[in-house]
Amino acid sequence: MTVDERFPRDFQDASEDEPLGTRSEIITGPVSDWATDFSHMEPEWAADPYPIQDDLRQRCPIAHTDRFGGAWLPTRYDDVSAIAYDTEKFSSRSIIMSNYRPPRDIAPIGGSPPISSDPPFHHDARKLLLPAFTKTAVGRQEPATRAFCHALIDAFDGQDVVDAARDYAQHIPMRVIADMLGFPPEDGPQFRRFVENTLEGVNLPPEERMERMRALFGYLLAQVHDHLDDPREDLTSYLIDAELYGHKLQPEHVVGSMALLLIAGIDTTWSAIGASLWHLARTPSDRERLVAEPGLLPTAMEEFLRAYAPVTMARLVKDDMTWHGVDMRADDWILLSFPAANRDGAQFDRADEVVIDREVNRHAAFGLGIHRCVGSHLARMELRVALEVWLERIGEFSLADPAAVTWSTGQIRGPRELPLRVR
Ligand code: HEM
Repeated sequence: MTVDERFPRDFQDASEDEPLGTRSEIITGPVSDWATDFSHMEPEWAADPYPIQDDLRQRCPIAHTDRFGGAWLPTRYDDVSAIAYDTEKFSSRSIIMSNYRPPRDIAPIGGSPPISSDPPFHHDARKLLLPAFTKTAVGRQEPATRAFCHALIDAFDGQDVVDAARDYAQHIPMRVIADMLGFPPEDGPQFRRFVENTLEGVNLPPEERMERMRALFGYLLAQVHDHLDDPREDLTSYLIDAELYGHKLQPEHVVGSMALLLIAGIDTTWSAIGASLWHLARTPSDRERLVAEPGLLPTAMEEFLRAYAPVTMARLVKDDMTWHGVDMRADDWILLSFPAANRDGAQFDRADEVVIDREVNRHAAFGLGIHRCVGSHLARMELRVALEVWLERIGEFSLADPAAVTWSTGQIRGPRELPLRVR
């Protein structure tokens, strides 16, 4: 097989020839009752989901909505954990809840292995990625990450107010993952649009979303060809050459995993860095303590990840069943809220407080079960370095205008505009 046969230069979306799967109607609009009509796409949820989740945990721990064609929202740690571990009853064939369900035969591989894969394929696809994300491999990125954080702060150039989400947090994971995949660093703004389309465009007509995905896959294929012409030591060349079951990976697998790394690596870490800075900007006692005791940062960081966990995932119910007292139907969505699990008072003392020296902190921010985050060492390195450099360079800062802070909508939650007074 020639290279052009394996990776055709004109990207053809396989779904053009396949049934589209099922769709459901419009999903946005004011919520009548969060227990029976929840929607994580509403502004109240984006601004502050915790009181809503706390109320549901007491009143209706597995909430339901008819939106999205039917979905459930568990808010207790034990339920979130049980679902995450139960790959017999719950599928990962789509982990972003939208108005569109991919066809069932896309399992067990899915569009972006391993996150979209079910067992047994999941195990093998995941194993391929692990060597690139060990603590040692990630450590090699640290000096460049630190230098980049300093360069971002240098570029503030004496301004009194800076946007810590747009001008700092956002750029760090974009640069790190571009370096690891071997993409041109100046392509960052394009990644932004791809990520937005995937994570926030969930209510667009499926055809339009597909069109946008085509732009992402077209970009990734161009990168694949660039690496075929000029192989180098990076994740893209690694995936092109990797083998599974004695064969090179299918082209959809190579490009799907590249898309996953790009998307999983950016909004998540951007959100974690932004939410931590937001907390410190409005909590002077924690900020002052971390400046005075930098050794506390790794512990504090875990608490920020617990309290402001940025990632909520989805599952699809495989077959009709009664589960923990509720009647689930095949293809109902589950909105798997790791943030809600992390605020469950049955699992954590003072669950609703941010305790930066919390000693025991087995939080679920990186997920639970077989899909637990492959990039957790990388994410922790980026978060630690981003906060270390910021606190070293800008020890005193506060919210310039609390009302001007905006949060992303959808399954990845973090500040998207965060004006901070830094002088
Ligand atoms: C603070 C930042 C991050 C958070 C909170 C986070 C969170 C998560 C969560 C909750 C999952 C589980 C998904 C599920 O159960 O369906 C996950 C999976 C994954 N994450 Fe992360 N993530 C972060 C950063 C990263 C980074 C930087 C990368 C790599 C570039 C990455 C790569 C992955 C991959 C490949 C998976 C799929 C693992 C599998 O399916 O076996 N993540 N992440």
